[in-house]
Amino acid sequence: MSQQGTKEKVVLAYSGGLDTSVMVKWLQLEKDLDVIAICGNVGQDAEDLGWIERKAHDMGAVRSCALDMREEYAETVLAQAIASNALYENRYPLLSALSRPLIARHLVELAHETGAAYIAHGCTGKGNDQVRFETSIRALDPGIVVLAPAREWNLLTREQEMEWAKTHGVPVPATVEKPYSIDDNLWGRAIECGDLEDPWAEPPADIWTMTRDPMLAPDEPEEITVGFEGGRPVSLNGQKMRLLELIVELNRVCGRHGFGRLSMIEDRVVGIKSHECYECPAALALIGMHQELETLCLDGSTLRCKHQVDQRWATAVYEGKWYSQLKGSLDAFCAYTQRHVTGEVRARLYKGVLSVCGRRSPYSLYDPSLATYGDDDSFDRSLASGFIGIHSLPSAIWSARQGPASGMGGLRTFAAEDQKRTPSA
Ligand code: ARG
Repeated sequence: MSQQGTKEKVVLAYSGGLDTSVMVKWLQLEKDLDVIAICGNVGQDAEDLGWIERKAHDMGAVRSCALDMREEYAETVLAQAIASNALYENRYPLLSALSRPLIARHLVELAHETGAAYIAHGCTGKGNDQVRFETSIRALDPGIVVLAPAREWNLLTREQEMEWAKTHGVPVPATVEKPYSIDDNLWGRAIECGDLEDPWAEPPADIWTMTRDPMLAPDEPEEITVGFEGGRPVSLNGQKMRLLELIVELNRVCGRHGFGRLSMIEDRVVGIKSHECYECPAALALIGMHQELETLCLDGSTLRCKHQVDQRWATAVYEGKWYSQLKGSLDAFCAYTQRHVTGEVRARLYKGVLSVCGRRSPYSLYDPSLATYGDDDSFDRSLASGFIGIHSLPSAIWSARQGPASGMGGLRTFAAEDQKRTPSA
């Protein structure tokens, strides 16, 4: 890949871990490239990032930098995720999927700045993150060539990788690492692999670091109030805060009460089902409370439509389509809906549970005089019978022409068919 003495450059998404450390060396030796290592700080529980910079440098990176992306991550990416109630398959708050497009944009910017023709990442060939990095990079600059050494090299086991590292002077971790694959940032922590591969086995207690075991959580409940403006969280317990600060604080408070753990079976982009464990206290609290406020501020049909849009948004982002026509269009819908999602939600934390206990908004569509069953009822009941007459008209016609439904329908319908098939193990 070199041209008359001057080497071409590759920008590497560097985490400081063993895989990407080996890559710093591997890209020089196997691809003859100058390596520019960049580590994005998105709020992960990383060792000192200055140390990570030095580590890349020591292994021959021509340039290495740690970029603090936390503020941007919170203000642009996470604010959007909250507005879209982003939960993939209705549960996973997308913490890994949300960070990749932001990191990808910085990789592309740095490639442009340094004239690098290549970008490399450390993802394996079975996961979602490779799809997200590469789809984002391609959308931002289709001319950049992406390298995925972990898909290409022959270091299949950790032992082989350690061996390669030792032979080539890459420092290997002295401590025995936990046998999990972990990804974390402001929006939570994802834990996979190792003992977690058996979906029947309960996740071992030592995988959790952000949340306390709910059974050991404080005996005293704690109340929290989050204020929203135009769909964005702006205050905690009456105190104005930047979103970044608010998330950090909520992770602490909710985590202390054991709220925010998930163990779920998830469908990856590459078609595999996998068992994933997540802890994401602030994410689940903020999305839950935001959804609650929407029930007050959006009318019924908009709300139901938004449920569908939210799911499409989460799936698009999960699949790496942050930079896409679909996601941009869904964003526009979402932005319109959020204009009056302003108000407060109050919730109680207690032993792993967050229960909403109140919500209010200056733009609330809830009308007590319509909702009440008391004397001051302003609802005109005389309109109901005419409304029902028209609403039920198709049911009456169907019944007259095709007969009423023969039974209650339901689960037994396919029983005979299913009996013919016996599940294999
Ligand atoms: N399954 C999650 C996702 O696809 C988490 C991925 C975590 N990444 C990792 N490298 N451990 O978004």
